[in-house]
Amino acid sequence: MRLKFDPPETLKAILADAVYCIPCDMDFDGAPCDGVVAVVGNDILTYAGETLLQRVDVAKLSELTIHLGVGCAEFVAEIDGGEPYLIARFSRKHSERFAELARAVRIKNEHNTWIEDSDDDERICFKCGRQLIRGSNICPFCAKKGSVFGKMLKTLRPYLPTMILVISLYVLSSAISIAMPIINRVLIDDYLAPQRGPLHEALLLVAAIFACHIFSTFISIYANRRSVRVGNSFSNDLRIMAYSKIQAMSVNSISKRTPGDLMRRITSDTATVQGFITGTLQTVLLQLTSLIVVTVIMFIVNWRLTLWAFLPVPFVALCIVMYRRVINLKYESLWRWSSRSNSILYDIIRGIRVVKSFGTEKLEVEKYEKVSRKLSDVTISNEKLWATLGPILGFVMGFGEFIILYFGGQNVIGGQMSVGELIQFTSFLGYIYAPLNSLTLLPQQLTSFFTSSAKLFEVFDEQQDVEDKENAEIVDIRGHIRFEDVFFGYNSYEPVIKGISFDIQPGEMVGVVGPSGVGKSTLINLIMRFYDVTGGRILIDGTDIRDLPQQTLRENIGIVFQETFLFAGTIYDNIAYAKPDALPEEIFAATKIANAHEFIIKLPDGYNTKIGENGFTMSGGERQRIAIARAVLRNPTILILDEATASLDTETEHLIQEALERLIKGRTTFAIAHRLSTLRHATKLLCIDKGKVAEMGSHDELLEKKGVYYRLVMAQRQTTKMADAEKTPVKA
Ligand SMILES: Nc1ncnc2c1ncn2[C@@H]1O[C@H](COP(=O)(O)OP(=O)(O)OP(=O)(O)O)[C@@H](O)[C@H]1O
Ligand SMILES: [Mg+2]
Repeated sequence: MRLKFDPPETLKAILADAVYCIPCDMDFDGAPCDGVVAVVGNDILTYAGETLLQRVDVAKLSELTIHLGVGCAEFVAEIDGGEPYLIARFSRKHSERFAELARAVRIKNEHNTWIEDSDDDERICFKCGRQLIRGSNICPFCAKKGSVFGKMLKTLRPYLPTMILVISLYVLSSAISIAMPIINRVLIDDYLAPQRGPLHEALLLVAAIFACHIFSTFISIYANRRSVRVGNSFSNDLRIMAYSKIQAMSVNSISKRTPGDLMRRITSDTATVQGFITGTLQTVLLQLTSLIVVTVIMFIVNWRLTLWAFLPVPFVALCIVMYRRVINLKYESLWRWSSRSNSILYDIIRGIRVVKSFGTEKLEVEKYEKVSRKLSDVTISNEKLWATLGPILGFVMGFGEFIILYFGGQNVIGGQMSVGELIQFTSFLGYIYAPLNSLTLLPQQLTSFFTSSAKLFEVFDEQQDVEDKENAEIVDIRGHIRFEDVFFGYNSYEPVIKGISFDIQPGEMVGVVGPSGVGKSTLINLIMRFYDVTGGRILIDGTDIRDLPQQTLRENIGIVFQETFLFAGTIYDNIAYAKPDALPEEIFAATKIANAHEFIIKLPDGYNTKIGENGFTMSGGERQRIAIARAVLRNPTILILDEATASLDTETEHLIQEALERLIKGRTTFAIAHRLSTLRHATKLLCIDKGKVAEMGSHDELLEKKGVYYRLVMAQRQTTKMADAEKTPVKA
């Protein structure tokens, strides 16, 4: 992230040697100002405008943190270990940059060196300085159209021969239709106007015109059919490319975008691109060719009249150039609102039961109405521009026709031109005005094509933040997990894991406990390498997991997530998802361990029972048991259970526990549970608190310590006692 920006003019002399200089938009009281926070020598200087508010020595600072408040954020630190001290206040959009500054100061104090800043992870466009739109890496104001088009041509390469054939056929068909007015002229001037025969020659010319018609129609039909096929194959390829890329994206990249946004890219953006390439582009190429050919013929026939015909063209071109920027902006805005509307729809339809349970249907309709109205406004404003601009340009073009009739008519009367020539000329006008007319629509079509292509290439070209190393070796995993001083935060300014270290031997069962939101599931995300650690390392069998292929790592892990997700399909398919080539016996064995077999066979369709996208027809406990069966079927070296039995009754849980006990022998098991009794077989308990390992040891050891674990156990016993007391009938 960039830390060194140009200081304002007035401070340039003072901050000439600054190591870092970050814009800061508030003073200490939260009032807006044009300030900077700069590091000069060993001091941090905070400026509001030209006024120096404060100077602190970097060496004295510790516990540097970013506090997020309402509408603003603060950079605070302890000076010589005292109370938190305000270094700068700023709007929240600057939080990540100040978090990077805090990291730089920490490194300076530990290693006595300032880190180099870089432009990686920047969310601004370096050309125009504007903030990039969330979920996008491309600045709509500065995106180079040429490069997008070049990339698209590369993607199109396999289809180019067929496309060239199609365009050539269209050109041929159009050449034939250009011949018609010429034959027409000969017919009028040589046979009809002088009113002389022979008749059979005139009829021959009529037959020639008819043949031209038939020939050009057949060629068009053939070309159209080829074009439809090539267009759809191309859009199919694009869709699959986009989908594969999204599948390959890291969890982090996907969670930055909404499902609606991603779906829009796969469906409508690919359709827009296809529509342009196989529709607009072909038509434009064809019309341009006929425009050039017809213009040359017209010049040969009567160059003066041709110049008159082109009189309106400069005006039209000027209009298009003037409105290009406006059109670009309107399309980008249209894309964003349409994507937002998609996201809302997707979210609400998925969560319809929550909406209904809170009776907020009306509110949701209002919410959608707002976005939909905005989308409609943007579309109206966009289309209104075209609805006005299009006819005006068409009218101006049509003006040329009057000029031709006026001057051409004079020429015919004056004898400088034949009637046939004038008719040929006016017929040709159609050939130049039709392309020019559709060229006036081109900017609109080009913009929608570039917007959609840019969105697609944003997905295609996205740099992966979790990537396999080139020399990543496939190894046998035995299940030794080691965390070495691991740091991690979903956002750079909010660390969740703050220096966790532990060591789990193969075959050990580790129970992870701790208050809610403390980072237990995050530990699992890190072991699965859904995210990369920001500090320290995670070793499996002595190898940093960043040096292992992700597939090898995940193949060896069986996981039951805290939130069970089942795909639309049969129960059998959902379990076999873990091992598509599993034999039915293996699946039955897994469901028996998960205590799911009994309830599945009682269903009318048994294993073939279809479940909805979220397993709507199943209870939470049933879903969880299917998820356990799925993890068990994988026969993994490492088994991860995140609240895997939380939705089960005590009896079922007990049965599963017993089965799991047999299963976990010889595997490293990582089990998270709030119900502490679930973890009684754990060889080691890891008690997480405030992002750190607060305690580690066996159940008895931790009880003896009388620390965090002891308090959690006591609190639960109290709750259980109370529940038991409630259950005991009161004796009369
Ligand atoms: N994808 C994410 N992006 C940003 N923050 C996240 C994300 N996932 C979790 N967090 C935050 O990280 C912190 C730790 O979350 P985590 O899910 O690891 O907690 P947990 O210990 O598993 O809690 P629980 O016991 O309730 O399941 C929480 O403050 C949570 O809000
Ligand atoms: Mg959790």
